[in-house]
Amino acid sequence: MAIENETTFTQAIRLYRDRADWYPLLTPVGDYAEEAAYYRRLFEIHCQRPPRTLLDLGSGGGHNAAHLKAALACTLVDLEPAMLALSRKLNPECKHIQGDMRSVRLRRVFDCVLAHDAICYMTSRTDLARAIATAFAHTAPGGVALFQPDFVSETFEPGTETGGSDGYGRGLRYLEWRWVPESKTDMYVTDMAYLLRDVNRAVEVIHDRHLMGLFPRAEWLEQIAAAGFKPLVVLFEHSSYSDTGHEVFLGLRPAADGVA
Ligand SMILES: C[S@@+](CC[C@H](N)C(=O)[O-])C[C@H]1O[C@@H](n2cnc3c(N)ncnc32)[C@H](O)[C@@H]1O
Repeated sequence: MAIENETTFTQAIRLYRDRADWYPLLTPVGDYAEEAAYYRRLFEIHCQRPPRTLLDLGSGGGHNAAHLKAALACTLVDLEPAMLALSRKLNPECKHIQGDMRSVRLRRVFDCVLAHDAICYMTSRTDLARAIATAFAHTAPGGVALFQPDFVSETFEPGTETGGSDGYGRGLRYLEWRWVPESKTDMYVTDMAYLLRDVNRAVEVIHDRHLMGLFPRAEWLEQIAAAGFKPLVVLFEHSSYSDTGHEVFLGLRPAADGVA
């Protein structure tokens, strides 16, 4: 008997709101160097124009941008003002805009568009299509969009992970617990428990529920093509992750002459 109900599927993620200043201890900016370098190489290989500008959709703490901004002029869009404030401190030279990747329209295009792990918050095929359409609307002819979900249906495994780090007299440790609801398709739940130890050694416990989309590879490729891109998938194997790699989806926007 399924005992899931609508409260099972509500999320109000405190880590992106009133606890955003703890975010850098969850995933420190240095951890992004390797993947950001990989994304930059993909942009350089696939962009049919000199890659100079980047739009990051769901930019969070700006940790990817911190590694990309030396090569690309970055514009960062996020839903949550607290995350934008955090990123502004790290990346004062980047432009920050509050917006929803499903609907934002900036009335300009970029050589490169990145939708990193924030794309996981698209929990329906409709929302995924809207986010990909946003990427297409902002990709210049000959430009490239890159989507990096944490999982596709074929690679998802329920499970737990732990981690965290220390900084400035504070410490964060977390337990991540991923599971698939019985009553839903196209999504999984990540329950996160954080222990936040402040400079006075007081420890606060917080629970956040993240609802994440889960779609087959073929669905990603179909949606990227339906938006107008030429779709491509490559596998990124991070040197320090134990899993078998992550799908990186690319959308190549044809140049004005139709060549992608
Ligand atoms: C894990 S963080 C992204 C971290 C980012 N990759 C970085 O380099 O720091 C996920 C972010 O997605 C944002 N987000 C979730 N749904 C969104 C949406 N519909 N539009 C824009 N941003 C969204 C959240 O506010 C959060 O800041």
